[in-house]
Amino acid sequence: MSFPNRGALRAALSVVRRVSIASMFAAPLFVSFAANAAPAAKPAPPAAATKPPAIDVARAENLARANACVSCHAASRRLVGPSYEDVAARYKTDPAAETKLMDKIKKGGSGVWGVIPMPAHPRMADADSRLLAQWVLQGAPASH
Ligand code: HEC
Repeated sequence: MSFPNRGALRAALSVVRRVSIASMFAAPLFVSFAANAAPAAKPAPPAAATKPPAIDVARAENLARANACVSCHAASRRLVGPSYEDVAARYKTDPAAETKLMDKIKKGGSGVWGVIPMPAHPRMADADSRLLAQWVLQGAPASH
């Protein structure tokens, strides 16, 4: 069986080809358009800046005693190191404060408050140095 009109066949085929090539380009365009049209994701609420994390104050106090932090720091007056309230005030608007203080507690160092170095606590668990950093950033509240 032969096609009645070879010209028409060729034309039909070329239309099919053109349409399928066009849809190859159109599909990703449509997808990206749909993605752009989607409503913008809500920005995450500002984290610790407004609401400090709930912490186990009694545990923080015990850690501070057990690691001799208390021999160099007090909540509201300077000893060998800065008072915890001064530390909290200094980092009040710093969103990276918790990480910075965790790092300082682990590695020690000097130069932020003066020349006297803060000793390192390399064996302290991350959970403990994080809790101490959070506690200091809240001004080292007392549990009683
Ligand atoms: C031998 C004394 C000493 C001990 C013990 C000590 N510190 Fe310090 N600490 C310092 C000094 C001195 C500085 C100031 C360091 C500086 O100027 O960079 C300091 C600074 C800090 C800071 C502020 C860090 C900064 O970069 O602003 C924090 C927080 C802190 N200490 C927490 C602790 C905690 C928690 C412990 C116990 C695990 C502890 N310290 C034990 C002397 C001490």
